[in-house]
Amino acid sequence: MGAGFALLAVPSCRAVGSPLVMDPNSICRKTKRLAGKQAELCQLEPEIVQEVAKGTKLGVRECQYQFRFRRWNCTSHSKYFGKILQQDIRETAFVYAITAAGVSHAITQACSMGELLQCSCELTRSRAPPSPTAGPGTEGTAWEWGGCGDDVQFGYEKSQQFMDAKSKKGKNDIRALIDLHNNEAGRLAVRSYMRTECKCHGLSGSCTLRTCWRKMPHFREVGDRLLERFNGAFKVMGGNDGKTLIPVGDNIKPPDKQDLIYSADSPDFCSANRKTGSLGTRGRVCNSTAMDTSGCDLLCCGRGHRDETVVLEENCLCRFHWCCVVQCRKCSVRQELSLCV
Ligand SMILES: *[C@@H]1O[C@H](CO)[C@@H](O)[C@H](O)[C@H]1NC(C)=O
Ligand SMILES: *[C@@H]1O[C@H](CO)[C@@H](O)[C@H](O)[C@H]1NC(C)=O
Repeated sequence: MGAGFALLAVPSCRAVGSPLVMDPNSICRKTKRLAGKQAELCQLEPEIVQEVAKGTKLGVRECQYQFRFRRWNCTSHSKYFGKILQQDIRETAFVYAITAAGVSHAITQACSMGELLQCSCELTRSRAPPSPTAGPGTEGTAWEWGGCGDDVQFGYEKSQQFMDAKSKKGKNDIRALIDLHNNEAGRLAVRSYMRTECKCHGLSGSCTLRTCWRKMPHFREVGDRLLERFNGAFKVMGGNDGKTLIPVGDNIKPPDKQDLIYSADSPDFCSANRKTGSLGTRGRVCNSTAMDTSGCDLLCCGRGHRDETVVLEENCLCRFHWCCVVQCRKCSVRQELSLCV
């Protein structure tokens, strides 16, 4: 299983590995052979490459969380994942977006933590001084920029350099356009949702002055937002000039920058299929009372399910002893599971 930097580097053989699970050293080894922009980055900025690897992992883990009760559950430990990445279906769009978002997030976080030489907290001195009345929170309280704001622009630009490098326009312009669009949608799911945090200064909490800084959204929130975009993804096709994307169907409005786009319909992911990268849903745990995608009807594709009792060991009757140990007993817990046949 190779992972995705190769994939990230050469459009025509995108599935050589999945970026997504590769350690930074092998990313760079692979990339040396492939040369190009990414090889350059490996040489010049190895610390950033580490963060890129962390960011793609963060993205894939969030993908697995968001899709945990769906037929396609973002399993990445299989060559089937590479197959997904080679297509232009909604699932592909989500993976590209969430990993580009993960990379922006991880790099920006590393900047704020002081882990990179190239960047640090956001410089707010250059920012327009806040007007004393129009500020976050309490009216009329004086405030100024301070603390450690997240330099999200730095993470955004690095994610752009690394993640977009693969999709140079070439033979397959339409696919490259779609991938680039979805990468950008992912980065914007971080950059466009910065929140302001403040702290009060003053005698006994009187809050005569507040300092404020900008923080990125929690990554879970980024995942939730991208899942919404996945559910409302826009289907597009290439225009005659090979350079533009045209919405398909009767969408009233064209997709905006934060929407996910795709050009091919997804398989149903019901049975295993090497060609489509579907693992099938046999043996998956489903919920016999739920009516949504986690319900046995939908998840098992109407094939039905069987119930099984499993015995799990859990900590129980835990007691706290002064000071400071917690002692527990082991209890066996029976759990009813429904599994797709
Ligand atoms: C995801 O699906 C695969 C294949 O059906 C299964 O082996 C795996 O256990 C699932 N993962 C989770 C977290 O449900
Ligand atoms: C199964 O679905 C029901 C109804 O949606 C829900 O209340 C319950 O928590 C679910 N059980 C599990 C184990 O997720």
